[in-house]
Amino acid sequence: MTVCTIGVETSCDETAVAVIEADEKGCRLCAEALATRPEEHSALGGIVPELTVRQHLELLPRLMVEVQEKAGARKVQAVGATAGPGLAPALLVGLSFGKALAWSQGNSFFAINHLEGHLFSPFVSQGMWPVYPHVALIVSGGHTLLVEASGPQRRKILGTTRDDAAGEAFDKLARMVGLGYPGGAALEKEARMGKKGRMSLPRPMKGTEGCDFSFSGLKNAARLLLEKNPEIAQPGEARSNFCAEVQAAITESLADRASAALEETGISTFTVSGGVSANQGVLQALKSMAQDRRVTLHCAAGGWNTDNASMIAAVAARRALDGLPSDWDADADPRWSVAR
Ligand code: KG4
Ligand code: ZN
Repeated sequence: MTVCTIGVETSCDETAVAVIEADEKGCRLCAEALATRPEEHSALGGIVPELTVRQHLELLPRLMVEVQEKAGARKVQAVGATAGPGLAPALLVGLSFGKALAWSQGNSFFAINHLEGHLFSPFVSQGMWPVYPHVALIVSGGHTLLVEASGPQRRKILGTTRDDAAGEAFDKLARMVGLGYPGGAALEKEARMGKKGRMSLPRPMKGTEGCDFSFSGLKNAARLLLEKNPEIAQPGEARSNFCAEVQAAITESLADRASAALEETGISTFTVSGGVSANQGVLQALKSMAQDRRVTLHCAAGGWNTDNASMIAAVAARRALDGLPSDWDADADPRWSVAR
């Protein structure tokens, strides 16, 4: 049996729609359309929930037409929409849109956990279904999680952040030295021109018990360093060295915590997804850690590491193949945990 599935993602400021085709062997992306207008949010100093609603309402119908044109004439069987975690008003737009679409086309409907999408993306981006058991590292602007997935519906959280998410830390540190918002990618670019070790910043939680993360200590140490040496925030060699040191601190922390999770569980399949996994330094450190531990690493490639609708469509397709539709009254849950 092949199922053609539409995925809708509106958990934060990105609006995305995707069409995938799936069967028991795996899934294939037919079309995706994504839009985001971060400049409208940055002008207001961060993500504004009311603005995300207006943007999703405006963009969804347009993106829907775009993917349908790209995907060509296909008979759709299922629609999945992100129901959480995320911003409540933003989630409600996509969820209502997805339900209305499914109802009007006579499809089954699936309310999808955004984080389960991130768990799927390293596998489905390679066309395959998730392999169990595995340990997943999800590193984005809103989440930093280590999850043990021992079966399709059996998941345990091994570690989470005690304060900021890894992407949030990248963004806040980038902003301190004038690299804009969101600044993760800009900080990585600047770090390539600098050298780590020219100034000293802590490696958060490295070597500690358990698998938790924390980035507030790094942020405070960086703030003190910049207060004492304001010239670092100006474009030039010192700023590049600062970025290289920040990049090294976050990277070492992520690799150390992931290594602790693999040690704790003894599991030999490891995945990474989320916006921060687009960082080549982070990816290289995780690759060499996995190699040292003789663990297989699956990364979410290309557009699959940042927020997207393909991963939401893939989870819905898996659910459709397993005959597990959601109820029509499924509600948005801004704090929906990925643990089961
Ligand atoms: O997964 P994502 O697109 O959205 C969610 O937050 O769910 O992740 C966005 C985050 C932002 O914090 C952004 O700065 C960070 O991922 N990011 C990066 C890089 N590209 C995106 N952080 C470090 N290096 C990058 N190259
Ligand atoms: Zn995400």
